[in-house]
Amino acid sequence: MKKLIQTVVVIFIFYLIIKLGVPALSSALHPGTWPVVPANLMRIYMFFVITGTLLYMTFNEESAKELAKPIKEVYGSPDKAGLRTIVIVVIAFFIGYVTYQNVKPSFEAPVELRSIHPAPPSSVEMFGKSWNLLTLKNPLRDDKANFDKYVKEGGIIFFNNCFYCHGDKLDGKGHYYKGIFPLPANFVDVGTIAQLQESFLFWRIGTGGPGLPKEGAPWISAMPIWQHHLSGEDDIWKVIIFLYNYTGHAPRTFE
Ligand code: HEC
Repeated sequence: MKKLIQTVVVIFIFYLIIKLGVPALSSALHPGTWPVVPANLMRIYMFFVITGTLLYMTFNEESAKELAKPIKEVYGSPDKAGLRTIVIVVIAFFIGYVTYQNVKPSFEAPVELRSIHPAPPSSVEMFGKSWNLLTLKNPLRDDKANFDKYVKEGGIIFFNNCFYCHGDKLDGKGHYYKGIFPLPANFVDVGTIAQLQESFLFWRIGTGGPGLPKEGAPWISAMPIWQHHLSGEDDIWKVIIFLYNYTGHAPRTFE
């Protein structure tokens, strides 16, 4: 019995370390944050923890027997029928509960609905220059001869920087989307870029989540400040051209 309890306790301690310890450590390094360990990663970690613990606990025949003894007793011995029934019922209820929690519909409003677009400032400082957002247009659009080239280069920028969050289908379901709130924008959805002017995207991409105005709160999102990472304004204009070209949406214009 001791061995079985030990095993369960060890696995539980590892679970706590991963579930709470890792975020706590990160929170100590970056005060004010509390990252979530993605569910997928959690499953992988727990798989190794459980396998490792069981391997260790059943290292030789004796310890394996010792570990299995209470289980065998409950399931095998005729005088434990009462306990056996209880254990089986408890396990059935536990699985039922977990399944119910996983499939029960949620009454929260879909997260997408909060994709309101905060009003942009009239001008913005980016790449060391001041841009008037009220009149700003995508300069590369006029260069029709090189349009295909811009789409291609914009695509390269997108897949080097953006698809981790916004997804390879531009649907906001990149690798990291589950761990991010608010969710990455879904560009396929008509509620995002199809409603926006290119100057708005220019501002949003350049200044990211931290660049949003106060009335956009609580919008300090995970969207990075791309003017710190891209080489210049043309990169932003190119990736914007790519976003519209790929989704088939047209930007809103001043007219
Ligand atoms: C770390 C994740 C992440 C990466 C990488 C990322 N984004 Fe975002 N992005 C977000 C999140 C989250 C939002 C939604 C919240 C917000 O608007 O700030 C968003 C929103 C946006 C919006 C606003 C759309 C709207 O409807 O208002 C645009 C445009 C955008 N991203 C473009 C890009 C581009 C272009 C890149 C690559 C150069 C990129 N993003 C990379 C997380 C990311």
